[in-house]
Amino acid sequence: MGPPHGSVGPERRCPPEPDLLERVRATGLLVPGAPVVVMLSGGRDSVCLLDVAMRLGAEVVALHVNYRLREDADSDEAACVALCERVGAALRVERPARETGNLQAWARDVRHRAAARLGDRIATGHTASDQVEGLLYRLAASPGRRALLGMGERDGPLIRPLLRVTREETAAHCRARGLQWREDPTNATDAYARNRVRHGLLEALREVHPAAEANLLRTLELLREEGAVLDAAVDAALTPDLEELRALLPALRRLIVQRLADEAHPRAPALAARTEEILALDEGSIDLGRGLRSVARRGRVGFAAPVPVRHPDIAEILVQADDLQHRIRELGAEISRDYAERDLLLVCVLKGAVFFLSDLMRQIDVPCEVDFMAVASYGSSTDSSGVVRILKDLDAAIEGRDVLIVEDIVDSGLTLNYLLRNLRARGPASLEVCALLTKPERRQVELPARYVGFEIPNRFAIGYGLDHAERFRNLPYVAALAEPAEP
Ligand code: IMP
Ligand code: MG
Repeated sequence: MGPPHGSVGPERRCPPEPDLLERVRATGLLVPGAPVVVMLSGGRDSVCLLDVAMRLGAEVVALHVNYRLREDADSDEAACVALCERVGAALRVERPARETGNLQAWARDVRHRAAARLGDRIATGHTASDQVEGLLYRLAASPGRRALLGMGERDGPLIRPLLRVTREETAAHCRARGLQWREDPTNATDAYARNRVRHGLLEALREVHPAAEANLLRTLELLREEGAVLDAAVDAALTPDLEELRALLPALRRLIVQRLADEAHPRAPALAARTEEILALDEGSIDLGRGLRSVARRGRVGFAAPVPVRHPDIAEILVQADDLQHRIRELGAEISRDYAERDLLLVCVLKGAVFFLSDLMRQIDVPCEVDFMAVASYGSSTDSSGVVRILKDLDAAIEGRDVLIVEDIVDSGLTLNYLLRNLRARGPASLEVCALLTKPERRQVELPARYVGFEIPNRFAIGYGLDHAERFRNLPYVAALAEPAEP
């Protein structure tokens, strides 16, 4: 950022904006004594927000994230420290370690996580000017009325108390209060489309009509208000039934499809252009981006979203929850076909396979029974000891029965190899294996498993029954355990 702007003393020309404080108070978003985390970049809008929040008596913790991406990042931090001392606000500074990948996504993630640790009401300094620029930008960039709705004053834990205040007003407020702010030089360049909208397009529109900004904001308000009517229409007609959806007006089925997607995914993409394609599919799924998929099955459409990874021990998801369930349905159907008219006994290997067994068994529609065995193979280590010990044996004899061993995962194959030999000696009519997962790269003994859910890479898997030192069995998906950090 460049030199500080705003000044104290005789030079100030703008009178204090008399009703800015009152207008923000009227939003009811900043209440005396109510805790709020104020996102403080040190720029004009966030400086104004911090000051207003303090003056309205909110219990403020300011959060400044120093990404150390720009040369004067440390001066920005120092300015925030000085500002918070001056207005008497508590300040928390985060200096995250840079991770690889998308820079903006990383910064947003870091910011959100840091804020969420500090509180559950998080205020940002977005202004009416941001709102208008965003509106113009999206008007060109993404079709659909959703793109025109803009930001809300409340959005989950996020609040935007300055959303009815323009950038000129926040500047005037800071000047009048003698508060200095930091200027981000990238805001002035035309390198970003967003800035060209700000400097070129918006100025041109003001020549068309001096109230261009106010008119655009008003339009946005009207659209939001009218959106409530459309929401009610969607509520009344909401259905996942494909036949019913196809019979509706195109506009209504488009809105319903978007609603169903929004309910499944916190950041679902706009689906206006894909509605007909989604509804045309009778069976199967479509990748819609951002991890969202539409799934058509048995005459209904649904949406599946990835489960967010929130634990530092989880490196990545290997098999999503809905993929597990989909495959288990297929396995259940196959087993039901193969074992019709037979004496099926499922033998579940404790503990990991219990989760798989219970879902699988409910997808089997021929008579079957279940028995359990516990064997020890791994202990708490992530590598195979090759030692197999029976901790709990079956309750009943299996002689003459059609036995299907249900396993969570086949790794080296040593455990299963031992089990197969042991059970075969008891004289079953048939003996087969159904394994949810297999890691073919790790195999030490050949094992023809008749049914396999998924092949996974050579990673230590956790979740959906699989544990690491007894933890993570409860995850609804299968994930890879994060490698321990190098000492
Ligand atoms: P195997 O004898 O090497 O095939 O391994 C058998 C048992 O080790 C499985 O039934 C699991 O209980 C456990 N196991 C193997 N790989 C994994 C894994 O990636 N995560 C969790 N448990 C595993
Ligand atoms: Mg096991």
